[in-house]
Amino acid sequence: MARTCLTIILAAGQGTRMKSALPKVLHPVAGLPMAAHVVATANAAGSDATAIVVGHGGDAVREALSGMLGNATFHEQTDQLGTAHAVLAARDAIAKGYDDVLVMFGDTPLVRPEVMQEARARLGDGASVVVVGFRPEDPTGYGRLIEIDDTLVAIREHRDASDEERSINYCNGGIMALSGRLILDLLDAIGNDNAKGEYYMTDAVEIARERGEKVVAIEAPVEDVVGVNTRRDLAAVEAIWQRRTRERMLDDGVSMTAPDTVYFHHDTAVEPDTVIEPNVVFGPGVRVAGGARIRSFSHLEGATVGAHAEVGPFARLRPGADLADKAKVGNFCEVKKAEIGAGAKVNHLTYVGDAVIGAGANIGAGTITCNYDGYGKHLTEIGQGAFIGSNSALVAPVRIGDNAYVASGSVVTEAVPDDAVAFGRAHQVNKDGLAPKLRARFKAAKEAAKKA
Ligand code: UD1
Ligand code: CA
Repeated sequence: MARTCLTIILAAGQGTRMKSALPKVLHPVAGLPMAAHVVATANAAGSDATAIVVGHGGDAVREALSGMLGNATFHEQTDQLGTAHAVLAARDAIAKGYDDVLVMFGDTPLVRPEVMQEARARLGDGASVVVVGFRPEDPTGYGRLIEIDDTLVAIREHRDASDEERSINYCNGGIMALSGRLILDLLDAIGNDNAKGEYYMTDAVEIARERGEKVVAIEAPVEDVVGVNTRRDLAAVEAIWQRRTRERMLDDGVSMTAPDTVYFHHDTAVEPDTVIEPNVVFGPGVRVAGGARIRSFSHLEGATVGAHAEVGPFARLRPGADLADKAKVGNFCEVKKAEIGAGAKVNHLTYVGDAVIGAGANIGAGTITCNYDGYGKHLTEIGQGAFIGSNSALVAPVRIGDNAYVASGSVVTEAVPDDAVAFGRAHQVNKDGLAPKLRARFKAAKEAAKKA
């Protein structure tokens, strides 16, 4: 039988050093609140339920996260009396009975599921408490893992540590896994006789040892346990997330000539054999099918890019942009809530919003769908194979028929039938020999003005 698992996420921190109206754990990494990253990690590690401990700003945290989490409960820790006290705020959830209980911090979003899986595996092997350790360059401020003969016996918080203990650089990453059978007993036995006067969950190590329980430490890379206290930390964490994601994309068959200049969102999905040129930014909700090329300086959000389609350079795809296979959206084009049919081309200086463009249509430079009248948005339909001459304004709602032509510079306000040519512009008139006369007139006027 698979072991059951509860994950408790401590998210009661005030985060005052962020200098923000937003609770710390709601600050986004790759567009997703930090705490939601932690929930995703727990879920990926096979956790069955999540208990989130909130304090100050609790309602905001609850509101922001409840939409994105399925099986989560929220627990209020009114006064912050330490990490053990925080975990016990979720007593109701713990009491439901789980084999494994993971304790994670809402401000430590880069833990990989593998680490939590390893911790759970140790519980499965009979450990009662598993501590995730790491070796930072500077251990100041962290709890030190006190080992005797390579066996973890206690965690000493920095403030309570002796000079000798402070020289240890094997530190507590903060994450713990505890036996669901013992956790309440262990935490209830913890006191607050320490420098901070707090209930430290780390004291569970010593207490479990004294009771003859098995306690182990596993080591994780520093990057997994880096926490966020300041906006500098947040930027550093974002950089690590982006680097990891670029590496994963490259490993998954996506080409990037300058990966360091490409920015992904937490939900960006790119299929193999796509090429992403330098300086591309992905906002939320983008899917790119295989073989597509996203050229330099393009910005995409809420967009779907079909197989072998081409975007940019300098293209902006906004929510609802849906490019079929082999469609092209070129430089200085903006597309919003529009289907661009297979092989259709929108190549230069164009705005397409609230539109459906048929396969193989060609949209000339400077075409604008006039979709908004100040009150409502209206649809422009362009049939397959249609050709829209440059610098045309298509005033929606309007339909251009299949294989129709729109003459350059037209303002189209009425439907154009299939196969028709629409001239929506003034007729041109040529006056033979007028140019020299005009020049003479303008020149004379200028000289008269100078003399006056
Ligand atoms: C904690 C660990 C320390 C470890 C370090 C890693 C303890 C006692 N110490 O120290 O060994 O090296 O993390 O970063 O666990 N929280 C609450 N309610 C509380 C207290 C804390 O929700 O009453 C939350 C905080 O918001 C934070 C997390 O628990 O997300 C850790 O608390 P914090 O006070 O930052 O612990 P550290 O001193 O950093
Ligand atoms: Ca901390």
